[in-house]
Amino acid sequence: MTGKRYQDVTDLFDISGKVAVVTGGANGLGRMIAEGLVDAGATVYITSRKQADAEGAAEQMFARGRGRCIGLTADLSTPEAAADLARVVSEREPKVHILVNNAGRTWGAPLESFPDKAWPGVLAVNVQTPFTLVRELLPALRNAANADDPARIINIGSVAGAAAERLSAYSYAASKAAIHHLSKVLAADLASDSITVNALLPGYFPTQMTSHIRAEEEKLSELIERVPLGRLGSAADIAGACIFLASKAGAYVTGTQLSVDGGMLGCR
Ligand SMILES: NC(=O)c1ccc[n+]([C@@H]2O[C@H](COP(=O)([O-])OP(=O)(O)OC[C@H]3O[C@@H](n4cnc5c(N)ncnc54)[C@H](OP(=O)(O)O)[C@@H]3O)[C@@H](O)[C@H]2O)c1
Repeated sequence: MTGKRYQDVTDLFDISGKVAVVTGGANGLGRMIAEGLVDAGATVYITSRKQADAEGAAEQMFARGRGRCIGLTADLSTPEAAADLARVVSEREPKVHILVNNAGRTWGAPLESFPDKAWPGVLAVNVQTPFTLVRELLPALRNAANADDPARIINIGSVAGAAAERLSAYSYAASKAAIHHLSKVLAADLASDSITVNALLPGYFPTQMTSHIRAEEEKLSELIERVPLGRLGSAADIAGACIFLASKAGAYVTGTQLSVDGGMLGCR
C-alpha cells in the first residue's frame, strides 16, 4: 500500500479549474505569480491600482495562458478597500481556492530621518489588508476547501523580514516579519477548516522594488555575491513555488516559511 492518490506526476501539480486571487498581480512579482497560475490552467483575478494595468495585464495573460485572467482595480491601502475587493470576487465566485497576498510597498530612508509617516501605509498594505482579505474571503475559501485538497493562502513575505538586510527599510522589514508570524497564527486557526496558510519569502527579484539596487552595477554585483546560487530570482522560481503550494503537491504543507532566495537564508 503506497497511499498514492494521484493519477500521474503531472496531476500532482495540476491546478486547472481552480480560482485564484493575486493582489498586485498586474505588475512585478505578482505578475510573475499570476502568469504561472494562468499558464497552469487556473482562473486568476488580479488587481492593480491602475485600471489600465489591471485590464491590460489580464488581457495579455488570458491570450497566452491555458486558464483565464480577470483584472480588477483596487487600492489596498485600507481595510474597507480590501473588504470591497473580497465582495466583488465573492459575488462572481462562490469558491476561491487560492489567495495570494502579494501587493506590497516599501519605504527606505536613513534611520535618523526615517519618518513617522513611513509606518501606517506600509503596515496597512503589507499586513492589515492581507488579513482583511483572508477574513472577508473566508466563506469562499471554506467553500473551496476539503481535507484532500485544502484551500490555500500564500502570503508574500521577504528575506528582509527574517534577516537584517541593511536596507534602511524599517517599517517594511517589521511588516514582513509580522506577515510571516501572522501566517503561522492563521495556519493554526484555519487547519481545521482545511485551509493552508504559508509565507513565501522571496530573495531579490528584478522588479520595480529592487530597481534602485539593480541600477548601480557595484550594488548589483555586491548583492549577487551574497546570493549562494549567484543570481537574482526569476519568474519560474517564484511561480513554481506558488504552483507547488497551490497544488496537490503542497496539500500537506501549512504554517511554514518557504524561502525562494537562492539560499540567502538557508545557507547562513
Ligand atoms: N522584488 C523583490 O525582490 C521582492 C523581494 C521580497 C519580497 N517582495 C515582495 O513581493 C511583493 C511584490 O513586490 P514587487 O517586487 O513586485 O514590487 P513592485 O514592483 O514595487 O510592485 C508592488 C506591487 O504591489 C502593488 N501595490 C503597491 N501598493 C499597493 C496598494 N496601495 N494597493 C494595491 N496594490 C498595491 C502594486 O500594484 P500596482 O502598482 O499595479 O497598483 C504592485 O503590483 C511585495 O509584497 C514585496 O514586498 C519582493
